[in-house]
Amino acid sequence: MKTIRNAGFRQVITIVLITIAIIAGGLLIGQAYRLLLPRSASVESEYFDQLFTFTISIAGMIFLLVEGLLLYSVLRFRRRPGDEEDGPPVHGNTKLEIVWTVIPAIIVTVLSFYSYDVLKVVDLQYEDIRSWFCGPYLTPGQVLLEPVKGERLVVDVIGRQYSWEFVYPNYGGVSSAELHVPVGQIVLLRITSEDVIHSFWVPQFRLKKDAIPGVFTEARFTATQPGTYPVICAELCGLGHAAMRASLVAETPEEFETWISSLVSGEAGDGSPVEVGRRLFARLGCGVCHTLQDAGSAADLGPPLDDLAGRAGGRVPGLSAQEYVRQSIVEPQAYILNGYLDVMPAYGDRLTTEELSALVEYLLHE
Ligand code: CUA
Repeated sequence: MKTIRNAGFRQVITIVLITIAIIAGGLLIGQAYRLLLPRSASVESEYFDQLFTFTISIAGMIFLLVEGLLLYSVLRFRRRPGDEEDGPPVHGNTKLEIVWTVIPAIIVTVLSFYSYDVLKVVDLQYEDIRSWFCGPYLTPGQVLLEPVKGERLVVDVIGRQYSWEFVYPNYGGVSSAELHVPVGQIVLLRITSEDVIHSFWVPQFRLKKDAIPGVFTEARFTATQPGTYPVICAELCGLGHAAMRASLVAETPEEFETWISSLVSGEAGDGSPVEVGRRLFARLGCGVCHTLQDAGSAADLGPPLDDLAGRAGGRVPGLSAQEYVRQSIVEPQAYILNGYLDVMPAYGDRLTTEELSALVEYLLHE
């Protein structure tokens, strides 16, 4: 009797120890996984990271349990030398089947409620949050608990092959090839595309939304850490896809005001065609593919544009330098330079006649 009770006790202890080991191992996997993510720099990324860690921890526990049982069974019940018997016939186990149906059902239900909760907080945030899972421990700087006061900053994000443009409707629609935002303030992005589907991705903010032609996709975020972060196109959109990058600069509200004021006064200032062309070149992201010293770009996907005035004339018989450069912008595939691919989108209907002339003048100016 005594030995049987001892054996039962030992079994219980073993099961408890294994359970603790599996839970601890799963939590460890969840934390270790977090180290692989880029540093988190917005209020929202904290929420996503918590959800992600939670999911990976559960997945880690299941992994350890299943693989552990598998390894144990392979070793413990392997065929011994001389054993030619069949295994015992086993058919079904109702209890086990109920257990392995109910447990995943509970896990999936909890995860779906948690995910909905995170989406709700991130998408409907800042108005009146009632959250089940996202506790106040997730709010760096308590930004989330502050209801919106006054106007929020809106940025229209336009994706095009192969650059991003950021327009600030609160500031008279000035535009930039770099996205500047003040830290600690809610920013509403309205993301769209001029041509094909792109995807606006900022890894440090865990923010990824499709840019779809004809549709404005909304995204909200609040940067918490000042810094410069990459904006990456995450949707294969053509040969220049890999080059379709921009920068997001998160800075103090004072720095942001200085930057946006200089942008506003810059656009209002010099209206000479060369100056307008220079701004268009930057705004349209031409430097993503072309080298041009004046614009500080050094890309080689398309032909270099330095000293164009000396080369453009007479390249196509009968076309002046002006006509040739204009044609290359309106209808790039008309004349593809040797060694380059037919990848440039046509800009004919994206520019007004004045803008086109200004751009041509800028590219040909000495
Ligand atoms: Cu745009 Cu990839």
